[in-house]
Amino acid sequence: MKDTEKFIKFYESRFGMEIMNIESNYIGEWFKSCNRILDVGCGIGSIEERLSNLNIIGIDKSKEMLIEAKRRSDKIFIQARAESLPFRNESFDGIFYLTTLEFIPNYEIALKEAYSALSKNGKFLAMILNPESEYFKYHMKSKNSYFRRVKHLDLGDIKNSVSNYFMVEDEYFLGINVNKERIFATNDRRYAALYVLKGQKNG
Ligand SMILES: C[S@@+](CC[C@H](N)C(=O)[O-])C[C@H]1O[C@@H](n2cnc3c(N)ncnc32)[C@H](O)[C@@H]1O
Repeated sequence: MKDTEKFIKFYESRFGMEIMNIESNYIGEWFKSCNRILDVGCGIGSIEERLSNLNIIGIDKSKEMLIEAKRRSDKIFIQARAESLPFRNESFDGIFYLTTLEFIPNYEIALKEAYSALSKNGKFLAMILNPESEYFKYHMKSKNSYFRRVKHLDLGDIKNSVSNYFMVEDEYFLGINVNKERIFATNDRRYAALYVLKGQKNG
């Protein structure tokens, strides 16, 4: 199955929709005061589809993902790489990566680009798959899992790199029990599927 098909299948399942709704509520709340937001690695545009009231531009390296994103939302989607953003400096007052930063081999370059594209005091958010979680470990058992493409497993290293550009705080979020397809509130790193870094541009 192609990546795009896998994403569609998951996000159209009841469980996938529930996860996406929680993630999009979190993102919507964090960026509600922003006027121009960039979603780096927007995939099939599930966030854009849900946050129709926010001005979000999605970029992704994959043409196939973007074809699907355009089918779901009338927002602007651009094929581009996180390491080379096609925008003027300070074009956005909000930038986020939803389970994308950890898939980028040299994410330092991407963070530098995000820093340039973000305005002074602009808001930053990265929601990163938590390798310690049951959810992550479950997916890693499967040979064809997309999770196996994660390039960075050390959350401390990621936080240090992000902190070179953004003043961030961290938290664990979104408990997922895959076997029971159950979602629950937790900040416990053993169960939270996501590690969140959020803050503002330095300087
Ligand atoms: C795990 S998916 C997450 C998609 C979306 N954010 C979501 O949560 O549904 C990672 C996405 O990042 C994109 N991606 C990976 N590396 C990228 C890069 N260097 N530049 C732009 N997009 C990239 C992939 O094509 C994929 O759509």
